[in-house]
Amino acid sequence: MSLAMLKEAKKQGIDLMFFTPHFYADETDPKRFIERRGLAASALQESIEANEGDYPSYLLGSEVHYYRGIGRSEDIASLCMGSSRYLLLEPPFRSWTPAFLDDVRELRDEQDLKVIIAHIERYLDQDKHLVAELLSEPGIYIQANAESFLERRTRRQALKMLESGKIDFLGSDCHNLDDRCPNLAPARELIEDKLGGAVLTRIDENSRQLVQEASGGKEVHVL
Ligand SMILES: [Fe+2]
Repeated sequence: MSLAMLKEAKKQGIDLMFFTPHFYADETDPKRFIERRGLAASALQESIEANEGDYPSYLLGSEVHYYRGIGRSEDIASLCMGSSRYLLLEPPFRSWTPAFLDDVRELRDEQDLKVIIAHIERYLDQDKHLVAELLSEPGIYIQANAESFLERRTRRQALKMLESGKIDFLGSDCHNLDDRCPNLAPARELIEDKLGGAVLTRIDENSRQLVQEASGGKEVHVL
């Protein structure tokens, strides 16, 4: 399935993908997580080499699920995207509290990390003040899933947020080939159609910067 997903992404014009397996602090620790991720990546790389096809390059990262006190976690920087200081953080699904925002600020200020808030569209029913605070917080990046533009239910809001400059990154968040498949191309097409190309140029510039920092030369797997 991974090979088919990579081929599909490449077909959609994706040259480089970040693999962001979930990190849950109550299930593992960064060291073990990185070991397991490395094994999975090696297995995938072997399959890629054994199966001819047009694949994108990739970099390893993670999607770190929030936990109380993450701001003071010592080894959290090892979970960043490639060799960058960008950390993809998945906010709590239950009620947000001011402590969550304090932790995010601590990651930025004390750990010098560039926090990317994952799939913001899932949190728009959280406490409005906290969401607004997070969206206007300097030095915090916001990511939205392509799906939020493709789904009729969420499209208007997603476009509004993107148009007003609140969204910094787009992601496919693809998990499989059916209900969560690679979908950046159709989302980009829709965005261009509704908002014009300039907004995508801004998003792509952010992505270029992320890739540049994350690749640090040797970690891009060019296939
Ligand atoms: Fe997620």
